[in-house]
Amino acid sequence: MAHTPEILLGQDELSAVVERLGRELSERHDDGVVMIAVLRGSVPFLADLVRVMTIRTSVDFVALSPYTPGTGRVRLVMDVATNIEGKHVVIVEDIVDTGLTSAFLIGELQRRNPASVSLCTLVDRPARRVVPVPIDHTGVQIEDRFVIGYGLDHEGRYRNLQVLAIADPTVLAEDPDAYVEALYGA
Ligand code: IMP
Repeated sequence: MAHTPEILLGQDELSAVVERLGRELSERHDDGVVMIAVLRGSVPFLADLVRVMTIRTSVDFVALSPYTPGTGRVRLVMDVATNIEGKHVVIVEDIVDTGLTSAFLIGELQRRNPASVSLCTLVDRPARRVVPVPIDHTGVQIEDRFVIGYGLDHEGRYRNLQVLAIADPTVLAEDPDAYVEALYGA
């Protein structure tokens, strides 16, 4: 059965959010910064963000294993190639949910003696936070709703949507393609 999701942020709203974050980051780090994006959800956000920043930036990527429910354990499965010692680093996240991924990554990067580590997330969902995470730059804060689009997926689907939409997890559990027709006009 086809379902229509609620659009949380349309293209213009997303652009405005990204521009504001780009401005904040450029003002804060006028001597340049290493942007470290968490694969794969933050790729569209990173691509748009760096293009509105007006300072010297380099980009790099990490991949982390999803935490095992119950243990909260996160593992680095792909590391950055950049030596971040003495550099200002910004972690770029799609969403901070439990906080386990970001908290792990902040700790991991801090051990490498960077000049600073800050966290920039497109979406902050504090309702399900398990560990406190200091977020320096937040795009939007949302209630306890599941979101798809603009990098965020469900089982690999919906990442390439130009908008951020709210989806019903019970609908997706029953049919992962439930929103395909409404969103892609298939
Ligand atoms: P954490 O729970 O803060 O560690 O977030 C782990 C990861 O889960 C995020 O980086 C996302 O990739 C994914 N995630 C959490 N909530 C959502 C959501 O609402 N939609 C899609 N992915 C999500």
